[in-house]
Amino acid sequence: MDHTNVVFSDKAKELQAIARKIADEHVRPLAAKYDKAQEYNYEAARAVAEAGLFKTFIPEEYGGHGAGVLALALVAEELAKADSGFGVAFAVNALGSFPIILGGTEEQKKHWLPQIAAGDKFVAFCLSEKFAGSDAQGLSVRAFEDGDDYIICGEKKWTTNGGVADVYSVFAVTDPESKSRRISAFIVEKGTPGFEVKKVEDKMGIRCVPVVETHFDHVRVPKANLIGGRAGLGFRHAMSTLDYARPGVAAQAVGASQGALDLANVYANRRKQFGIPISGHQMVQQMMADMAMKTEAARRLVYTAAAGIDESGPSALNSKMAAMAKCFATDVAMEVATDAVQVFGGYGFMEDYPIAKFFRDAKILQIYEGTNQVQRLVIARHLIREAGELEHLQEFIPHEEQQSYSEEPVGSRNL
Ligand code: CAA
Repeated sequence: MDHTNVVFSDKAKELQAIARKIADEHVRPLAAKYDKAQEYNYEAARAVAEAGLFKTFIPEEYGGHGAGVLALALVAEELAKADSGFGVAFAVNALGSFPIILGGTEEQKKHWLPQIAAGDKFVAFCLSEKFAGSDAQGLSVRAFEDGDDYIICGEKKWTTNGGVADVYSVFAVTDPESKSRRISAFIVEKGTPGFEVKKVEDKMGIRCVPVVETHFDHVRVPKANLIGGRAGLGFRHAMSTLDYARPGVAAQAVGASQGALDLANVYANRRKQFGIPISGHQMVQQMMADMAMKTEAARRLVYTAAAGIDESGPSALNSKMAAMAKCFATDVAMEVATDAVQVFGGYGFMEDYPIAKFFRDAKILQIYEGTNQVQRLVIARHLIREAGELEHLQEFIPHEEQQSYSEEPVGSRNL
């Protein structure tokens, strides 16, 4: 048991220690270089692969460690503590793999997962489009059935790891008339004719990992690559994938917060003003204490959310907890990074110092894998459903304010 009361398996502890070592040796020392150059840190990715860290989230029967979402969170946290960009470069492989792990056929799992576990194939997740971000059902990329194949046409946006990845989980519309079975998920391999990485984005942060547009010009994929072997399951696959992956983003945020806090702590004890280290000034102490409290609270929520998924799999509670962990931890990361820059003062604003990068990297955490507004929407929907279980509290609330008109409950509107 660690200090969060969540039990870590021996394997999880081992993977955490390996990730910490790789972060110290291969990630932190090169973080500024790859950030400036906007280049992928292949050296660190190789070290991660050789150390078996890509096995973390792959089940044992498919060549992985089967260490679960909690171990994935621990590894992502350690890597992100050194470089938030590299944290996502690692974790996005889990995001791209979960549709196969959670929804794939036995043949698909046997074929793809061992290669991902070995680090032979990197993965990406293609859901978002120019006009479909938060509204993930509003996709326009189409997949048409053609004999034994599907033909995919359209453009995806914000594909993290695009170009580096060898395997892409791609969501496309197969039945535009259907409300609940509109979308299907496919595995598309790099090099498939018609599949191209086009615009590589010039980003504010996480600059060491490419975020790209992926274009599909009549890309022919065999029906064997339809995830789950049945059309119409794509939105479900996407949603359950995000439930499993969001604790990983949240863990990146905890790592980013801890990394920023550690640097601010060292600096506050070194930097002297008014004759003493600034850590001796109460206003700085208050900031540091708040940063530490928030980081620790986020960590505990993230570990609890991740452990819940490992314990009981997909469920309404685990979906809510994943959204809470993602939203809380990433808001904390932004706040902590902002305060860390403040502790560094003018130097914090300069790129010569490492803290500016933490600030730039933090912002995307509140946006990707579901904006924090979407997380709050998910949480609120769960709360509204849970209100039905709280009927016994009705008698303690006076009814004076009840309106005379009867409509559908507010929770089903505007959400
Ligand atoms: N698990 C399983 N099924 C789920 C589910 C879940 N968590 N949530 C919803 N569903 C099912 C529902 O049961 C429903 O099924 P039926 O039609 O059979 O009833 C269906 O999905 C539709 O559900 P909703 O009506 O709730 O869907 P919605 O259109 O209202 O959208 C949403 C819900 C929460 C806003 C969703 O669209 C969403 O999560 N949006 C954000 C998308 C997102 O996170 N994008 C980021 C992509 S990854 C990225 O950032 C890039 C990267 O590479 C890092």
